[in-house]
Amino acid sequence: MGNCCTGSAKCANASTPFESKVTRSTASNNSAAGLGLGLATAKLASRRSSGRSSAFSGQLPGGGGGGGSDVVDGLKSFSMSDLRAATKNFGSSSYLGEGGFGCVYKGWMDEATLAPTKPGVGRMVAIKKLKKESFQGHREWLAEVTYLGELHHENLVRLVGYCSDSDSNKLLVYEYMVRGNLENHLFRRGTQPLSWPMRVSIAVDVARGMSFLHGQDNPVIFRDLKSSNVLLDADYRAKLSDFGLARDGPTGDRSHVSTRVVGTRGYAAPEYIATGHLSVKSDVYSFGVVLLELLTGRRSLPQSTTGATSATTLVDWAKPQLGERRKVIRIMDTRLGGQYPKKQANEVAALALRCLDNDPKNRPTMADGILPELEQLQQQSHHRSSYASSTTPVHRSSGRHSKSPTCP
Ligand SMILES: Nc1ncnc2c1ncn2[C@@H]1O[C@H](COP(=O)(O)OP(=O)(O)O)[C@@H](O)[C@H]1O
Ligand SMILES: [Mg+2]
Repeated sequence: MGNCCTGSAKCANASTPFESKVTRSTASNNSAAGLGLGLATAKLASRRSSGRSSAFSGQLPGGGGGGGSDVVDGLKSFSMSDLRAATKNFGSSSYLGEGGFGCVYKGWMDEATLAPTKPGVGRMVAIKKLKKESFQGHREWLAEVTYLGELHHENLVRLVGYCSDSDSNKLLVYEYMVRGNLENHLFRRGTQPLSWPMRVSIAVDVARGMSFLHGQDNPVIFRDLKSSNVLLDADYRAKLSDFGLARDGPTGDRSHVSTRVVGTRGYAAPEYIATGHLSVKSDVYSFGVVLLELLTGRRSLPQSTTGATSATTLVDWAKPQLGERRKVIRIMDTRLGGQYPKKQANEVAALALRCLDNDPKNRPTMADGILPELEQLQQQSHHRSSYASSTTPVHRSSGRHSKSPTCP
């Protein structure tokens, strides 16, 4: 098992004044306070109770343990013993991975009752166990339950249920995404390279999920778009996961909301890092970084052989190449083996460049600017079924990357 719950790629930036907006409170009459959470979190809990119907309307039942009454609006409340049983007591053979807020395990449950079962019986789920000591983790847990309890879309990972017990255990149970995250497919050695049509298709799926979030009456800003939060099912269909940092966007004429700076280095928009001004266009910037990763097969923060991250980001390195057709070819992922339409690669590069504009106003919107363009490219590419079932890599190159501009 990995070094559970220690190192984190998340960058809650303690030096920013926005950090001080997170306050801790012990007394309040709502359910969030009842769970030992703070004012900021309580606000989140009541977010959806005004206006639209909500899966999470202020009350969270405690761990149920198998009865029928512990399913509220489609979300099941699990007991800790259920989840221990489903994961072999969170054993190393069940371990899937670790993020900034906790470790993720696979588990097995009965399809109909969601009672824990033996490995191989019923359906697989992914169970995220949040670090107990982390207040931020509690807040993230509540954001996930709040947003994923309400927002259902084929390109958002499905939340099956949660656990919150008197011992301050906080867990989340998701549908299992069998092919794991996009980051591993792009960067992990020994994985089969994703073909060009697959990459376009994944970009379309992510854009659909994001358009859905931004298109809500009260737009939702995802705030942590990155390749490790894009999960893939058996057919390489992509879904967004991790709503812990999501928050409501501005309403009316306001262009942004002000907030403390959280997210992941290498993906967060420059104006958000500098000012804490968050808008849907902050997500568009992060989407541009994911497009760059799909094009280049390089990480948003390049790592040296010693594992240290470079000060030069993928964006710094790639941006000067994106506007010029003859330069784009030099930054393309060599794992593609040249098997991509050059015109399409240039179009995606030009789209990424617009998403990465320093001025958020100049970035395209997900629904009108980005999604239609990518869908058009997808139509030109092969149909999903013609490559999803393929087990033959398009090409295996001997070197990871071709001669290209000096890598950071
Ligand atoms: N629903 C899921 N199905 C399969 N694997 C998952 C699921 N959710 C998370 N994982 C795996 O667990 C890892 C850790 O997830 P997470 O805590 O969200 O951290 P991060 O997004 O920073 O990688 C992911 O990178 C992914 O490989
Ligand atoms: Mg994640």
